[in-house]
Amino acid sequence: MNVALGLLGCGTVGEGVVALTVRRADKIKDLTGFYPVIEQILVRDLHKTRNVSLKPGQLTANASEILENPNISIIVETMGGIEPARSYILEALRRKKHVVTANKDLIALHGPEILQVAEESGVEVLFEAAVGGAIPLVGPLKENLTANEVTDLKGIINGTTNFILTKMTESGADFDEALAEAQALGFAEADPTSDVDGLDAARKLVILASIAFHTKVELGDVQVEGIRRVTARDVQYAKEIGCVLKLIATGSDRAGKLSLRVRPALIPGNHPLAHVSGSYNALFVRGDAAGDLMFFGRGAGSMPTASAVLGDVIALLRNIGLGVAGSPASRILLEKQVVPDDLPYRHYVRFSVDDMPGVFARIANMFGDAQVSMETVLQKRVSHGEAEIVIVTHEIPSNRIDGLRDALLRMTNVRAIHCVMPVEPLSD
Ligand SMILES: NC(=O)c1ccc[n+]([C@@H]2O[C@H](COP(=O)([O-])OP(=O)(O)OC[C@H]3O[C@@H](n4cnc5c(N)ncnc54)[C@H](OP(=O)(O)O)[C@@H]3O)[C@@H](O)[C@H]2O)c1
Repeated sequence: MNVALGLLGCGTVGEGVVALTVRRADKIKDLTGFYPVIEQILVRDLHKTRNVSLKPGQLTANASEILENPNISIIVETMGGIEPARSYILEALRRKKHVVTANKDLIALHGPEILQVAEESGVEVLFEAAVGGAIPLVGPLKENLTANEVTDLKGIINGTTNFILTKMTESGADFDEALAEAQALGFAEADPTSDVDGLDAARKLVILASIAFHTKVELGDVQVEGIRRVTARDVQYAKEIGCVLKLIATGSDRAGKLSLRVRPALIPGNHPLAHVSGSYNALFVRGDAAGDLMFFGRGAGSMPTASAVLGDVIALLRNIGLGVAGSPASRILLEKQVVPDDLPYRHYVRFSVDDMPGVFARIANMFGDAQVSMETVLQKRVSHGEAEIVIVTHEIPSNRIDGLRDALLRMTNVRAIHCVMPVEPLSD
């Protein structure tokens, strides 16, 4: 039996979905009893060249033709953005069509509303592709790991920043150069704000944390810092002390108190996340029963993302076959408090001082007075009269680092503090 799908968007992901649906149609029929056919596809520009072969009349620029088509029972949304994607999805749900979406922005910002309308309409919304491209993350957190209390999420969930930081590490390039290369190769968008300022990672963290910690998480709950201020010099010094720089997303649940953060951090070279390079993503999940798990793979791209989209379509077709698609799911959300991350971390501190005798001894005394011990010290002369000092501290709570920064700035002979970053522990 054929099942008609309506596809909203035929760009990078949409084309992958078209190609993979054709390639796997027989297998999907074997697995689910349904032979999938993409009946109509919504695009903006009907005359654009597409990298997939399409049937005459398959494309439309009129969303109503798809949303009002009674043959279509599943809408696959790969158009992106908030509007009109949100309105189209809500209309599809109200018309009792199931929805599969790759749209992380929409799910992070309007997930609760969309899930509510789906539940009221007795249909399903699946969004595995919204986080981590090909890597199964939503499914394991929603299904396989539900016997656990998940206490920690930690990972690299933005491929663009990971590509830029990998380039900076490998070639010594500065941020702007590495960003330009990422844009030229199609790994970064013309407007890279959402990626480099950490917002994309924060939105994905909102989705993951909501599911993992069974609560409602909003974007404002995440402390976000991007990678714009990461310099070639910090990348170089990180290397000298055996670390690499990565944009790390963390979520922790300590007895109902959540801390959610996206920020650049130093990763020791022998930490598994140090080897997640280029456009790859990885996520650590800690469950009280399962222990530590690491998910790793391609976080974006046409076919990797289509793999996740089609996986959701197949799951949906199975449920339709069993007559359970859209059955009310238990969505009891727990009340949890969001608190600032004050977990203890080692910290990397880079600052410049007057290059003269006795300065370092006074800095060492100040660290002693502040009861912050030093693990590693690098001292470099950067120009005549100026030296740069890099100190890696022993563990101190994040909320004490501001006091240390202020004390340093108050010292005569300290010219500027250039960078303060946490150093991830090898294991907690
Ligand atoms: N790219 C990835 O690797 C990746 C990975 C994971 C998740 N995602 C998510 O997947 C979604 C799609 O990403 P993408 O990279 O495939 O985007 P894309 O290449 O820009 O494709 C967007 C498609 O949607 C169509 N479209 C956009 N706005 C429209 C409108 N108002 N009316 C009609 N059609 C419209 C475009 O039509 P035209 O072709 O006519 O312009 C295009 O075909 C986004 O939510 C993104 O966050 C992407």
